[in-house]
Parts: sequence; structure tokens; C-alpha cells
Amino acid sequence: MSNQKSQEIRLKHRPIGMPKPDDFELAETAVPTPGEGQVLVRNSFMSVDPYMRGRMTDRASYVPPFQIGEALSGGAVGQVVASNNPKFKVGDHVNNFSGWREWFVTNGGELTKIETVPGIGLQAYLGALGMPGLTAYAGLLKVGELKEGERVFVSAASGAVGAIVCQIAKNKGCYVVGSAGSDEKCDWLVKTARCDKAINYKTEKNLDAAVRAAFPEGIDVYFENVGGEHLNAALGNMRMHGRIPVCGMIAQYNATELPPGPANIIAVIPMRIMIKGFIVSDYGSMTPQFISDMVGWTKASKMKWHETIYDGIERAPEAFIGLFKGDNFGKMLVRVGPDNAV
Ligand SMILES: NC(=O)c1ccc[n+]([C@@H]2O[C@H](COP(=O)([O-])OP(=O)(O)OC[C@H]3O[C@@H](n4cnc5c(N)ncnc54)[C@H](OP(=O)(O)O)[C@@H]3O)[C@@H](O)[C@H]2O)c1
Repeated sequence: MSNQKSQEIRLKHRPIGMPKPDDFELAETAVPTPGEGQVLVRNSFMSVDPYMRGRMTDRASYVPPFQIGEALSGGAVGQVVASNNPKFKVGDHVNNFSGWREWFVTNGGELTKIETVPGIGLQAYLGALGMPGLTAYAGLLKVGELKEGERVFVSAASGAVGAIVCQIAKNKGCYVVGSAGSDEKCDWLVKTARCDKAINYKTEKNLDAAVRAAFPEGIDVYFENVGGEHLNAALGNMRMHGRIPVCGMIAQYNATELPPGPANIIAVIPMRIMIKGFIVSDYGSMTPQFISDMVGWTKASKMKWHETIYDGIERAPEAFIGLFKGDNFGKMLVRVGPDNAV
């Protein structure tokens, strides 16, 4: 391995506003040799996720900021290529947190073995069967306390999290409306994800009126991925005892100044609305039930997903920036190596 090179993406500057390709740099290192107790992994796919934008800013949060000049990190799936650790053998497929690089060594603490399911690609463990899928599952069922037959509104509905939220809600007999940023995404939401309606928020002149028209009886659960105008429109159309699990607010991740809050927040009082933020890592204990339900729904054709895959680690910054422009249709992934490295 010693002559082989491993490429990685490092943070060059902290982005101001929308990230730019120049905020990142591609670097090359030698493929490391595993020491005692260590494992050498070659990544196959890495994930780019909206939350990574927060880590590019130097401030305290639930995950520490990335450091300038260092390789970024994040979710990835790969294969064990060499092992001095009895817990892992050559050929094991593993989920890890060392994305944004092609190869790495670890003592194994960050690795989770993937029990692949025939017919489901390895990359699904970064999307529908991975962190975004669990976010949808825990956020809707646990935080949003979804009940059978309720009325559910989902923003960023064709994305990695949103598409799973829509279909879980449909599988629970709910009325579901999603919003997305193109007609193609909206068509998919209705035809494939079985949403009752979809709203193209980019062409709709009045989002509040569009949401009201789609929910003449109001919304029980608004699954919040976007913030801003979407939150405003949802708040104005909630039913009594409605719930808003706040998963993300991507519309403001690149804001250089905090936008004004929703003027209609007062609606939470008379309507007894519950708004609750959550972080998926607090719901890891739901993973076995989540995987079992998701695999069951997938086999029964009641769970489908889209992926956008960019080839080559050098395209990772472009893939990441694309999240904020809606360039992804479903889970955004970067292929950084072969599915099977051994
Ligand atoms: N709380 C947690 O633990 C947790 C975990 C995972 C994800 N999240 C959050 O969940 C949300 C979705 O994440 P994801 O991984 O599933 O991403 P994603 O939806 O697959 O990708 C992001 C999508 O957001 C939409 N978008 C981007 N900028 C927007 C804007 N200004 N206004 C409206 N829509 C915009 C775009 O779709 P359109 O084409 O439809 O505009 C884009 O494709 C994010 O807010 C993320 O931070 C939270």
C-alpha cells in the first residue's frame, strides 16, 4: 500500500454566506499503514449533509467545528482492506465517520459493520437506511408523535430526510403534502412517494395560500426542514394540538445575518402547538426498529428513494454546495472508490 495515494478534501477558508469551491482544497497523502489494533478502510461513498455547513463556522454547537487545513469528516461507507483488529475482518463493509477522504486507518471505534440486504445498495446506508432515514423515522414518529390518519406537511420533501418522512406518513395512513423546488421533484412526490399533493414552492407565488388550499382542514404535523417562509405558512395553517418537529432550517444556513422570526409565532398559544427541535444522534436506540420497518416497507414497495451520485472525491465540494441550490434529487452522495475494494 505504501506507494498508493489517498486523496482528501480539506477546508481552506471558512465560507461566508454560500460556500464556494475555493473554500475547499484537494490534497494527497500516502495510504496509511494500520498499526497494532488498527483497521485500514477504503471508502466507497461519502455523504454530504446540510449540517456540515454549521461545522464550517467557528462556533460551539452539538458537533465541533471543522479546522482549517484539515480534512473534513462525515458519514461514509467503505470496506475493510487490512485489519489488525479482531473485531473486523478484510472485506467487512463498514459505516464510518471518516468521509471526505479515500482511505483511512482507525482503531475501529467509529466503525459499524453493515449487514447488507440483497437488492439494497451499500450507499443506502448513508441515506434511507442511514442517518437521514433515522432522522425521518425518529423525527416523525417520536418527536412529532404522529398518529394514524393525521394530516402531514413536509418541506424539502424530495430530499434525503423529507422523502422518507412522506412515505412513513403514507404508510401510517396519513394525508401527506410535500413541498419541493421543481416540477420534476413534485411529480415524483405524488407518483412515486404517494404524496396526496405536492407544492412547488419556487413557482408558487403565495406559499401560505398554497398550503391553506392543500390543507382545508389544517395540519396536524409539520415536519420542518427549511424554516423561513415555510414555517410561516405552516404556523398559519396548524390544527389544534398540532406538532412541529424541527429537523432543520436549511433556508438560513448560509445567512450572514439572522432573518426575522415568523411574525405569526403567536399562533402556538391558542392552537396549543408543540414545536420541538431534535438531533438524530439522541435517537440511536430506535435503530433496530427503524431498520426492521424500513427493510419491510422497502420489500413491500412501500418505501422508495432517489439518489444523486457525483463521481470522484474532487467533486465533493460541488456536491455539498449543490445541497443549497437543490441540485440533489434525493440523497446527495459522492462515489470515492469501488463498492468492493478487495
Ligand atoms: N436534526 C437532525 O438531526 C438532522 C439530521 C439530518 C438532516 N437534518 C436537516 O434536515 C434537512 C434536510 O436534510 P437532508 O439531508 O434531507 O437534505 P436534502 O433535503 O436531501 O437536501 C437539501 C434540500 O433542501 C432544499 N433547499 C435548499 N435550500 C433551500 C431553501 N433556501 N429553501 C427551501 N428549500 C431549500 C433543496 O431542495 P429543493 O429543490 O426542494 O429546494 C435541497 O435539495 C436539513 O435542514 C438538515 O439540516 C437534521
